[in-house]
Amino acid sequence: MKVVIPGGSGSLGQAIARSLTASGHEVVILSRGARAASGRAVHWNGRTLGDWACELDEADAVVVLAGKSVNCQHTPAARDEMRRSRLESVAVVGKAMAACSRPPHTWLQASSATVYSHRYDAPNDEEHGQIIARSPDTPEHWRHSVELVQDWERAAQTACPPETRLSLLRIAMVMALGPDETFNLLYTLARRGLGGSIAGGRQMMSWIHEVDFVRAVEFVLEHPELVGPVNLASPHPVSQREFMRVLRQSAGIPIGLPATAWMLELGARVLKTESELILKSRFVVPGRLASAGFEFEFATWEAAARDLCARWRRQ
Ligand SMILES: NC(=O)c1ccc[n+]([C@@H]2O[C@H](COP(=O)([O-])OP(=O)(O)OC[C@H]3O[C@@H](n4cnc5c(N)ncnc54)[C@H](OP(=O)(O)O)[C@@H]3O)[C@@H](O)[C@H]2O)c1
Repeated sequence: MKVVIPGGSGSLGQAIARSLTASGHEVVILSRGARAASGRAVHWNGRTLGDWACELDEADAVVVLAGKSVNCQHTPAARDEMRRSRLESVAVVGKAMAACSRPPHTWLQASSATVYSHRYDAPNDEEHGQIIARSPDTPEHWRHSVELVQDWERAAQTACPPETRLSLLRIAMVMALGPDETFNLLYTLARRGLGGSIAGGRQMMSWIHEVDFVRAVEFVLEHPELVGPVNLASPHPVSQREFMRVLRQSAGIPIGLPATAWMLELGARVLKTESELILKSRFVVPGRLASAGFEFEFATWEAAARDLCARWRRQ
C-alpha cells in the first residue's frame, strides 16, 4: 500500500509509519517542517493546496492526524489554533482528494474519545455512547473540547469524496514511551511519590497501549466494513485512582500522595497544561473493534503498565 499521513511527524504518526514501513508499505508524511524520522517527508502548510497534493493521487489510504496538541493551556488563542489546525487541514485534504484522478479508497481521520460525555455510570461505545457537550456537573469551558471534536468529525464527513470510505478514530489516551508522552509524565510523577489519586480519583481513564493503537489502525485499514466512528481504547478502562495504583505497583513505588482539584489546577498551570485532561471522566470502550474481532495484546492496564515500566527501565 501507499499510505499518506498528514500530521504524521508526531508521536502517533511516527508509530504508524514505523510499523507500515517495516511491513514493506510506502509511507508519505505531510509535515509543515518536512520532518519525519520514519516515512518520506513532504512539505505542506496544512491549509492550502500545493505540490504535496499529487502524493494522494493513486495512494491507497490517507490517515489524517494533523492538529495542534491539546496538551497546553486552553486559552482563547490556543483554542482557536487547535480548531483551525484541525478544520483547515481536513478541508484541504478533501480538496486535494477531489482533484485526484483516483483518490485513496480509505480515509482514516483522527478524532478523540473526549467527544463522549463526562460520566461514571456506564461505558460509552459507538452505538449507545452519550455525546453531550456540557452536563450539569461539568464546568462550562469543558464543552469546547467536545464541540471541537464534533466539528472535526463533521468537517471530515463533508470533505471526504463519496467513493472513499471514512473511518473516524475516536482515540483514547495513548500510552507510549518517549520524552513528551503522557506515560512519561505519569511515571515521573509516580517516581517522585506524587502518583496518587486526584480529586478523589473516581473519574474513569480510557487508555490504549501504543502497540495496540498501531495494530488497531492497521486493522481498521484492512476492514472496509469499519465506516464511521471507531473507538480506539482498551476494553478495560479504570478509575484514575486504580490507574495510578497499578502504575505505582508496576514501578515498585510504595506510596503516592493524593492531590485535590485545586492542587491539580496549580500543577497544570506550572506544567502549562489543562486540568480537564485529568478531571474529565472518560469512560470509553471499543464496541466496534471488539465485534469486528480485534484482539488486544494489552487488554488490561496491569499488563500494559508492566510492559511499559519494563521497557522504561531498559531504555
Ligand atoms: N496522542 C494521544 O494520546 C491522542 C489521543 C486522542 C487524539 N489524538 C489526536 O491524534 C492526532 C495525532 O496525535 P499525536 O499525539 O501524534 O500528536 P502530535 O505529536 O502533536 O502530532 C500532530 C502533528 O500535527 C501537526 N501540527 C501541529 N500543529 C499544527 C498546525 N497548527 N497546523 C497543521 N499541522 C499541525 C504537527 O506536524 P508538523 O509540525 O510536522 O507539521 C504534529 O507533528 C492529533 O490530532 C491528536 O489530537 C491523540
